[in-house]
Amino acid sequence: MKEQVKQKFAELYGEGAVCYASPGRINLIGEHTDYNGGFVFPGAVDKGIVAAIRLNGTDKVRAYALDLGEEAVFGLREEDKPSQSWACYIFGVCREMQKRGGKLGGFDTVFAGDVPLGAGMSSSAALESTYAFAMNELFDCGVDKFELARVGQSTEHNYCGVNCGIMDQFASVFGKKGNLMRLDCRSMEYEYFPFAPKGYKLVLVDSRVKHALVGSPYNDRRASCERVAKVLGQEFLRGATMEQLDAVKSQISEEDYKRARYVIGEERRVLDVCDALEKGDYETVGKRMYETHWGMSKDYEVSCEELDFLVEVAEQCGVSGSRIMGGGFGGCTINLVKDELYDTFIAKAKSEFNAKYGHEPKIYDVVISDGSRRLE
Ligand code: GLA
Repeated sequence: MKEQVKQKFAELYGEGAVCYASPGRINLIGEHTDYNGGFVFPGAVDKGIVAAIRLNGTDKVRAYALDLGEEAVFGLREEDKPSQSWACYIFGVCREMQKRGGKLGGFDTVFAGDVPLGAGMSSSAALESTYAFAMNELFDCGVDKFELARVGQSTEHNYCGVNCGIMDQFASVFGKKGNLMRLDCRSMEYEYFPFAPKGYKLVLVDSRVKHALVGSPYNDRRASCERVAKVLGQEFLRGATMEQLDAVKSQISEEDYKRARYVIGEERRVLDVCDALEKGDYETVGKRMYETHWGMSKDYEVSCEELDFLVEVAEQCGVSGSRIMGGGFGGCTINLVKDELYDTFIAKAKSEFNAKYGHEPKIYDVVISDGSRRLE
């Protein structure tokens, strides 16, 4: 990918570009907990975004999206927001760096990616982190790594309309080969967990469906959580118990109740998984993954028929753990599979899904990799 990006850059804008890269992510468990001040358990993957960049001495950015074959030209003032949605990510990152004191100028750039779009692996965070990291270096902004992750998150909030949490950008910036990370999204403390379960594989099964839902279902979920936290007199749902939730049941809607119930349960599951991982008890890890799935499906209502089907196939094959990954409404399942079941499971998931939905899911073996970096 790096060679293709460099070559296109040379063709369009000349020599002398420097390359940067940032990955997409997986998340073992802890879904929709980040904006509730809870724990997440992500890791960076070996798929991401690569960008070639060179300063151009003007006040304009010329950006070329290799995968789309499209160019956008825009300035760096608030009123210069480009019309192409992909370019808004780069523009947003530049604006957020400026808000943090960065003195940015124009640059030329070409980028490409291999994070499957809509798979729930956070291609957008990979894009944001790439440019946040690069701008910080190239314009010597002196922004620390946490703040770089926040630059990506604020880009989503302020320029892309998604009130996301910090997980994806954190994972993309802080990723470390062979390690998952447990992040406490309230204190922002984090810990690396070497992850190489003996006798198991982590594999993603990508349904290749993405349901376009009316309105903003992600922001709706977040708003429900915030409403319930407010009724409970807390800043976040984090730390609330089921007893506390039941005590306010009559003051909140049935929908908000179910959503909060999912989040409170998920909090517990992440901590259980940490304990289980320390003991090497992968069967418990897997059980919690299934519970997360059905919580996301029935209570949080962010799954869909195709993903429920894939999880059922995993259950029938005796796969240790399986669940929808990421924000929801399509994308892939993450599966913890014993080595000896891997081939049967993959074959069955492909053929049964194909028979029912008319196309095969895509399979990605998870390779846990490094975060944002400059490519030499
Ligand atoms: C999306 C968001 C994250 C997180 C997940 C759900 O990926 O960007 O902040 O909320 O959904 O866990």
